[in-house]
Amino acid sequence: MPIVLQLSDPHLLQDPNARLREVPTRQTLHEVLSLAFERCAAIDRVVLTGDLAHDETPATYVALEGLLRTRGVEALPLPGNHDDRGAIATAFPRVAGAGDGTIRFVDVIGGWCLIGLDSQIPGEDAGRLGPDQLEWLRQTLATHVGMPTVIFVHHPPIPTGHPVLDDMGLLDADALASMLEATPWVAAICHGHIHRAFEGRLGSTPVLGAPSTAFQFPAHPDDGPFEFLPPGARVLHLGSTLRTEVIRLPRLEWLPRPKPKPGESTPTAS
Ligand SMILES: [Fe+2]
Repeated sequence: MPIVLQLSDPHLLQDPNARLREVPTRQTLHEVLSLAFERCAAIDRVVLTGDLAHDETPATYVALEGLLRTRGVEALPLPGNHDDRGAIATAFPRVAGAGDGTIRFVDVIGGWCLIGLDSQIPGEDAGRLGPDQLEWLRQTLATHVGMPTVIFVHHPPIPTGHPVLDDMGLLDADALASMLEATPWVAAICHGHIHRAFEGRLGSTPVLGAPSTAFQFPAHPDDGPFEFLPPGARVLHLGSTLRTEVIRLPRLEWLPRPKPKPGESTPTAS
């Protein structure tokens, strides 16, 4: 049974010891990867659902590719709103893009089809697939009629309840929803961007959000800028049906702490 590890929003920096929002993002990615390989007997693919390099520098993508290559697992990267497509294509030449500058993929493993979509709009936080990529998706799904399929994309195709993040969602999600009404063999859409585990539906298609391998966002901005949860990832078990689980690191000491409200003491990790 193939196992796919979805890593999302690592927000790496060129300095391996650098912290972003207090989180040493290179270290947390390393630890999430180690946790996944401890938990799973074998991982057949790693899908990276965007916001790979916060600084968008070529060296950061090269470091990410090197980290995954040492694990001997095939990595399938997708861009988020914080990414440089050209630098991804250079660092991951096996998935160098679709010839039109986008980074997308189709991969068949163990009777399952994995499709990666590029939702980046350069310079903007929201996402869009665009008519050309939607047509490519339609043709790809038609080529694999009836084959259980998982679609990966950075931006969530439905509102997730966080108004700030929902304002920077997938702008042409309605077109995707219309297409998927005719493709019941699509088992799930797995996304990043919201830095938290999430479950919803686009029509009848399950939508699954992954935690960030770095810092976590809350379900609603009223809960503060960060969620006090450890970095994590989503694991997909591709058997007779899709089974998924979210894994998280046990360590909390380098996480951002919630700011105490007036009259409250500072919460502590447990
Ligand atoms: Fe992100």
